[in-house]
Amino acid sequence: MKSNVLSTAAVGAGLLAAGVAAQTACASVLVPSYSPPSVAPGWSAQLVVNGLKKPRSIQFDAGGGLLVVESGKGITRFTFKDNGGTCLAVDQAITVVADTTLNHGLALANDGKTLYASNVEAVFAWAYDPARGALLGDRRAVVANMSNNDLTTRTLLMSQAVPGQLVVSRGSAENYDVDALNKSSGLSQIRAFDLARLLDTHPPYNFNADGRVLGWGLRNSVGVGEHPKTGAIYSVENSIDGVKREGSDIDRSNPGEELNYHGFLNGTTAGQGGNYGYPNCFAVWDTNLPGTSTVAGGLHVGDQFSLVQNATLNDTTCAQQYVAPRLTLPAHFAPLDILFGDDGAQAYVSFHGSFDKTNPQGYRVSTIDFDPQRGTPLEPPSSTRALSRDIISNPGQAAQCPANCFRPVGLAWGPRGRLFVTSDTTGEIYVLSRDASSSSSSSSGTTATTSGSIVTATGKANGAAAALGRPALGVLGGVAACVVGGLMVL
Ligand SMILES: *[C@@H]1O[C@H](CO)[C@@H](O)[C@H](O)[C@H]1NC(C)=O
Ligand SMILES: *[C@@H]1O[C@H](CO)[C@@H](O)[C@H](O)[C@H]1NC(C)=O
Ligand SMILES: *[C@@H]1O[C@H](CO)[C@@H](O)[C@H](O)[C@H]1NC(C)=O
Ligand SMILES: *[C@@H]1O[C@H](CO)[C@@H](O)[C@H](O)[C@H]1NC(C)=O
Ligand SMILES: *[C@@H]1O[C@H](CO)[C@@H](O)[C@H](O)[C@H]1NC(C)=O
Repeated sequence: MKSNVLSTAAVGAGLLAAGVAAQTACASVLVPSYSPPSVAPGWSAQLVVNGLKKPRSIQFDAGGGLLVVESGKGITRFTFKDNGGTCLAVDQAITVVADTTLNHGLALANDGKTLYASNVEAVFAWAYDPARGALLGDRRAVVANMSNNDLTTRTLLMSQAVPGQLVVSRGSAENYDVDALNKSSGLSQIRAFDLARLLDTHPPYNFNADGRVLGWGLRNSVGVGEHPKTGAIYSVENSIDGVKREGSDIDRSNPGEELNYHGFLNGTTAGQGGNYGYPNCFAVWDTNLPGTSTVAGGLHVGDQFSLVQNATLNDTTCAQQYVAPRLTLPAHFAPLDILFGDDGAQAYVSFHGSFDKTNPQGYRVSTIDFDPQRGTPLEPPSSTRALSRDIISNPGQAAQCPANCFRPVGLAWGPRGRLFVTSDTTGEIYVLSRDASSSSSSSSGTTATTSGSIVTATGKANGAAAALGRPALGVLGGVAACVVGGLMVL
């Protein structure tokens, strides 16, 4: 596995890329056509691929190629001319799978020799040669029967802790979908399938009936990640849009998005398979909720609440019958991926951001701090400070979003501990690299610094971030760039 700590060689190049000398050091700078995102102090970033069709999930294969699902197109493999730091340029781009139905999910077998991808109906497998980036046969379905309207991505995660276990996440068929109350509908669920036991001749698993249910009542948990030290599975859920509580509109700041915990894939079932509330119960982000709660003492951040208070469904039902989130995140941030650093001290979460709000919000990659040994978040469930730091985000009020701005989706670690991020609406891939002076923070388990952006209790982001992609310098990166530091009003 790759380390998050930059190698000595990469550190030197990273410094160059971040400084004024970068103009000569990096000849391959691409500049975004829109107001560029900001990078946290201690990090540098560069746009390395553009012109893609809705790039979603990404992953490096064993041959060093970056596989990218382009929604509505297929899977493309990129190799780079790598000058270290963030100075990369595309060397070759080849089409691995031409299939316009593929829309998000991507995974590789533990030995790197089977490629998995998904469309709305099924997960497909291809024998794969990672040295050439070539398929070695026709596709076969390994999990099927998932078609529905509305939320159509099926996120894939191949376990590293328990080889062969493929986690598949499926959303609901409507914003508010009562069919998800029926467990055998398969809607709004995360299941794990043992592909090691699925013979080539066997029909695909039926998502709705087979596999291990990691959780249900999960509206649309697009991001799924595995903690590297413990094998704990976590997901990030996109919660409901545009709802009222007892007749009053609560959409501006509720419900919160969720980080949920789903136990382990090794046979231990503790903390696994429960119902997480949707479509009956949602997580409190802003405690200023209308209506009188049935819960004595009222509601706190992270409690589950109901949109109605009646004799069969109310806040008490939510507290007693459903699994509450491990952490609650700001409303409408739309988390789409969660990827742990190798040391297990941070999860990186991409937020696609809101698509229909008068105050656009989200649009960033942020960290959540974890206890590396226990594999649990450091913040308590009632915290509003789950996001310890924004690594890359849109400056100012993100007024140009969502139409014309960086909207992160897929995350992948690449060679030398660099983080690759797709932005689907702009058709791009960015690379992020830690600068030399801050590389030690990756093993300390703490990233929050005085200069990092912190989402506070009122949902405002403060702190400074360095502007990326300043054409005057011809360099995308942290150290030399100016500080923007405006308040982000959510
Ligand atoms: C597909 O799933 C539904 C439940 O949602 C089930 O009734 C049906 O039998 C399944 N079809 C197949 C071919 O497994
Ligand atoms: C639950 O969903 C399954 C599969 O779609 C269906 O066969 C069954 O009738 C549903 N049950 C109820 C109570 O709606
Ligand atoms: C599964 O992993 C967890 C975390 O490491 C551990 O506590 C548990 O004992 C393991 N269960 C089995 C059956 O190995
Ligand atoms: C309570 O509200 C839920 C959701 O609207 C509804 O399904 C249920 O029938 C209501 N129960 C009563 C007793 O009104
Ligand atoms: C809340 O719903 C539960 C059923 O889940 C019911 O037992 C309780 O009486 C309800 N509370 C109120 C105040 O209606």
